[in-house]
Amino acid sequence: MAKLWEGMISGEKSLAIEKFNASINFDKRLYREDIEASIAHATMLKKINILTDDEFTKIVEAMKSIKEDIEKGEFIFDESLEDIHTHIELALKERIGSIAGKIHTARSRNDQVNVDVRLYLRKRIVEIEESITKFLSVLINVSENTIDIIMPGYTHLQPAQPMRMAHLFMAYFFMLERDRERLSDCNKRVNMLTLGSGAFSGLGYNIDRELTRSLLGFDKISENALDSVSDRDFIIEFLSCVSIIFTHLSKISEDMIIFNSNEYGFVNIDDLYTTGSSIMPNKKNPDIFELIRGKTGRVYGNLISMLTIMKSLPSAYNKDLQEDKEALFDSIDTVLASLEMISECISTMHFNKETMLLACENGYINAVEIADYLVSKGLAFRESHNIVAKIVGNLSKEKMLFTDLSIDEWKQYSSKFDDDIFNILDINLSVEKKVSEGGTSYKMIIEQIEKAKKYL
Ligand code: ARG
Repeated sequence: MAKLWEGMISGEKSLAIEKFNASINFDKRLYREDIEASIAHATMLKKINILTDDEFTKIVEAMKSIKEDIEKGEFIFDESLEDIHTHIELALKERIGSIAGKIHTARSRNDQVNVDVRLYLRKRIVEIEESITKFLSVLINVSENTIDIIMPGYTHLQPAQPMRMAHLFMAYFFMLERDRERLSDCNKRVNMLTLGSGAFSGLGYNIDRELTRSLLGFDKISENALDSVSDRDFIIEFLSCVSIIFTHLSKISEDMIIFNSNEYGFVNIDDLYTTGSSIMPNKKNPDIFELIRGKTGRVYGNLISMLTIMKSLPSAYNKDLQEDKEALFDSIDTVLASLEMISECISTMHFNKETMLLACENGYINAVEIADYLVSKGLAFRESHNIVAKIVGNLSKEKMLFTDLSIDEWKQYSSKFDDDIFNILDINLSVEKKVSEGGTSYKMIIEQIEKAKKYL
């Protein structure tokens, strides 16, 4: 123990301190972006005559060889070297000697780490958008395949009104479509050059930020150096976008878990995506959907971590900011893996059309239709609602359905009932009546699908 403090007092850090301070174990995934940004920075330094042509060439070649070594798995990462920026700069020094020291002219790790993360996140956002697009096309396909399936729609998880199954999958489509749009909007705040801010006060060199911006393909240049080095809004924003995606993925998962249960039996998750129980041979567990539902917790957690890390931080860079990366990387990995899994699970799912129709017919799901029928015969809706509620109450006591009533029995509830009541009882009819925009009738679902295809 004494040694640990001795080491610290004499200026030599103990292993424990180095380990605690280091981010290399998780920020090594930024190596590509660190090298990309360094090469752009070197190009700019050459233009303003801080690097000669020869120095520039040596730096770029060495950077490329470092990248190759990392990719071949031949680069040694060491916790005593703190982070990816330090690793790459020291490797540069090993390869080309003192010229390496020039790369950090007009740069601080504060603006360096910020630009690296932005470059990294910008690419991942595109991948996530592509992954959402794949899922969206799965949802369109599944909607086309389930347009003729009639199922109960639920509110409060109580059977409420019948709908086409495609209505459900198209609902998921529009949720995820908004998620995709939100991400591309978030990218506007990500896609900004912060390099060239220095530690926080700007730089005493005549740097050319516009050149660096165009080399790295950023849309704009950050306006205030102090803000730039401490800005992690773009990470908070991204983590909120992912959290909202998971609000949707967990809802879809929950719906599918319920519909796949023995009690419902509306869908069968393909065997590939279920697992057995180690003790109960009768079980097929919907693990993948359950995991997506569960992972929502860690994704929300990452957002809350990031908000909490940022709360009341004094201005400029503080080491707290190093804690941004694990939350960010974890949410990126989790959303990419979950989108892939949910796409596969949904595209391979089996649908039990008869069971769903039976579930509609075995209840009072078209009760609203009957109330509307009485309204069409001149009753006030409140009154017709009461009459139908009374009918449902009596029928359920007798374990009977609307279709079991004769015309005389109907008339006992209201003289407005006529023979045409039997036309109303068809479940299909109540679905087909929903012709308003966004409704569940065949025509309106087709319209939704056509609009959806345009979004793709
Ligand atoms: N590893 C650090 C991070 O991730 C890099 C920036 C270090 N800057 C500093 N002033 N210590 O935030």
